[in-house]
Amino acid sequence: MALQDFLDQLDDLGTAAESAFGEAADTEALEAARVTFLGAKKGRLKSIQQQMGSIEREDKPTAGKAFNATKGRIEAAFEAAQQRSDNTDSDSTASNQFDASLPGDTFRCGTVHPITQTIEELKDIMGRLGFSIVDGPEIEDDWHNFVALNIPDDHPARDPLENFYLATADAISGDKDPVGLLLRSQTSTVQIRVMEKTAPPIRIISLGRVYRPDTADATHYPMFHQIEGLMIDTDVSMADLKSVLRLFATSYLGDDVTIRFRPSFFPFTEPSVEADYYWNGQWVEFGGAGMVDPNVLKAVGYDPEEVTGFAFGLGVERLCMRRHGVTDIREFYKNDVRFLAQF
Ligand code: PHE
Repeated sequence: MALQDFLDQLDDLGTAAESAFGEAADTEALEAARVTFLGAKKGRLKSIQQQMGSIEREDKPTAGKAFNATKGRIEAAFEAAQQRSDNTDSDSTASNQFDASLPGDTFRCGTVHPITQTIEELKDIMGRLGFSIVDGPEIEDDWHNFVALNIPDDHPARDPLENFYLATADAISGDKDPVGLLLRSQTSTVQIRVMEKTAPPIRIISLGRVYRPDTADATHYPMFHQIEGLMIDTDVSMADLKSVLRLFATSYLGDDVTIRFRPSFFPFTEPSVEADYYWNGQWVEFGGAGMVDPNVLKAVGYDPEEVTGFAFGLGVERLCMRRHGVTDIREFYKNDVRFLAQF
């Protein structure tokens, strides 16, 4: 066979293969073209290779080179077509297609935690009664949590079993005595912090977390929230305390709520009361209150002959439970969205 004929055939074959692979619209067409041109037994490239035997000896190197070049050209055309087909295949799967006209998945939006909602509402109610909001630290010292609140050294409220005391690194290594830091067990600490810095008259509330090592049950949790109130002026009386608490309770729980005050004892108030609401056939305590003890007024540098005041500390969870009919405080802290989404 003449060299030139052979070279022409190679050229034609290359062109034919390129257009066949270029036109192959799907995997089946591509496979058919592959068999036609690159098939190991009957492929057109193979049959041209067989014709090399009839080429003149001196033309063989040129023919061989040209054959290899054509082989490369056809293989490249095949690979390009294969790649194109891979891309189209994955593009056409459902996950890669975006149809803006389809209805989307329902979008789940978080809600404000019920306790946070309650706190916001209680702030509003007390704000309308002229009380401003102050914050206090959750890690407290002995002075603010006990001493200034007239709680003596041997008082059971200081028992390590009743409090979350914090051991410092020094105390753990035995280098120093514990410094008496603890997670506050009551928001009454904020009363002291405010009175230390502010001259009367005072009308504040403070809302936040308190910690007690109670076993969790339907009405107790080792962390809960209190709303603390403090009012100090020249002639604040027990009647003021009762009317503020009653107004507060009816504003949050509704006019039909029944509350009662029971005589009680707190080291930092005298006289003291506990406040209960009536629910499901029983009285439920929701906080303590009383007239600020003269010893507390003295501890912060006030003159008990000149000013008097009342204080109260109420459980936020218990108010929220009564309002929404929640019978187990633990629900608030399970983070179960089926519960939380209802608020
Ligand atoms: N601090 C008390 C408690 O945690 C409640 C209280 C506050 C009582 C203020 C009297 C006055 O139980």
